[in-house]
Amino acid sequence: MFYKIAQKVMFQMDPEKAHHLAMSSLKSTANSPLDCFYAQKFEQAPVEFMGITFPNPVGLAAGMDKDGECIDGFHAMGFGHIEVGTVTPRPQPGNEQPRLFRLKPAKAIINRMGFNNKGVDNLIANLKQAKSGALIGVNIGKNKDTPVEQGKDDYLICMDKVYEYATYIAVNISSPNTPGLRSLQYGDLLDDLLASLKDKQKDLAEKHGKYVPIALKIAPDLSPEEVQKIADSLIRNKFDGAIATNTTLSRDGVSGLLNANESGGLSGKPLNSLSTSIIKQLSDCLKGEIPIIGVGGINSAADAIDKLDAGASMVQIYSGFIYQGPKLIEDIVNAYRVR
Ligand SMILES: Cc1cc2nc3c(=O)[nH]c(=O)nc-3n(C[C@H](O)[C@H](O)[C@H](O)COP(=O)(O)O)c2cc1C
Repeated sequence: MFYKIAQKVMFQMDPEKAHHLAMSSLKSTANSPLDCFYAQKFEQAPVEFMGITFPNPVGLAAGMDKDGECIDGFHAMGFGHIEVGTVTPRPQPGNEQPRLFRLKPAKAIINRMGFNNKGVDNLIANLKQAKSGALIGVNIGKNKDTPVEQGKDDYLICMDKVYEYATYIAVNISSPNTPGLRSLQYGDLLDDLLASLKDKQKDLAEKHGKYVPIALKIAPDLSPEEVQKIADSLIRNKFDGAIATNTTLSRDGVSGLLNANESGGLSGKPLNSLSTSIIKQLSDCLKGEIPIIGVGGINSAADAIDKLDAGASMVQIYSGFIYQGPKLIEDIVNAYRVR
């Protein structure tokens, strides 16, 4: 009820201003009696994933809390994990505004944010301040002005810094809004990146005395052959997990709608079936050797169950959370429990 009212107000505002208002309200009310407006308590449904026990299978997808400012607020809503980031080694402003658009009739969003974030050191300071004990995935990327051929160094810098504070690390090579980034999904560049990250993980596990799993986040805009090659590379390099999918460059299901011609990545309902089919293909190729988080267009508990049926072990939500509110978390957990 409260969310429906808040949403009505926010949907009258510019999307990015609404985002900042929502985030600052969440930040200022977390860990106070005012969190009663969004906090939810429900029976948990633990799930084992990459060797970690998560309280439930529903996570917040990357990009909402890029700088880890609202971890306790999102935790109070009942998310089983929160993926912060994408964070880059150095702070960067992202693309010029406007860069975030609602496509309301389709329950969709187009964004070309371009990894706006305050940098990895700032993120770590926020992770240290979080009180709730939430499980945190840290999603890492490269700065826009780092050439793709040196992109690996940015991932290694971020991994080195966040390792101690992360429950898992997500490697984002699938945003459509950083020029050239998706080229890291192919061939030798991918193999080299995954091998280097695994080497780094080995060193850091020894140094910190704990094993932090790493998962690769992939795009939905891949041919079956490309999905197979990525799966082969994940298995070859003994990666811990995969996250499928990021936003799509396709405009299927939104043509003619206001904002449909904006450039950037499309998320929300129109992405749902494409994302589920990539999860199915990836799951068939991985043959249960590497677990998957399913994300993309989940707008109801049934959509989440479809992702699990396609081969995912957990799910994440972003656009569906904007359109449906925190109740979607509880709905999915309840459906998961009786599945
Ligand atoms: C405004 C916005 C910003 C995003 N930023 C990131 C990001 O920084 N890193 C990332 O890996 N994914 C990012 N994503 C993608 C989401 O994490 C998710 O993969 C995608 O939106 C599909 O899920 P959905 O349909 O539930 O939104 C972003 C999505 C949106 C809408």
